[in-house]
Amino acid sequence: MSDLMILCKTDDVKEGAPISISPENFPMLAVYEYDGEYFVTDNTCTHSMAVLTDGYQDDAEIECPFHGGAFSIKTGEATAAPCVLPINTYQVTLVNGNICIPAVSG
Ligand code: FES
Repeated sequence: MSDLMILCKTDDVKEGAPISISPENFPMLAVYEYDGEYFVTDNTCTHSMAVLTDGYQDDAEIECPFHGGAFSIKTGEATAAPCVLPINTYQVTLVNGNICIPAVSG
């Protein structure tokens, strides 16, 4: 099993209130709850650098605070114009109430 990095506790994240985390060696990340599951994506809009956690979670989508673009928090796919390029998503593993993603080596 690859090494995991703890981002936060599940209790730290509520549906509709994603949080921003800036771990070492990663871009700024967004952590979401949706329907009892947790998801992690990059937290920077691919349209023009807005911080997605400053926007609005609408079910399984995050709406950018600028220009009305949106992304799927499950797949990272752009779901509303003007966004076209996807955001990265990260495989989430829950360990003892912690939300973890694969650590980057090196
Ligand atoms: S910066 Fe996100 S839609 Fe424009």
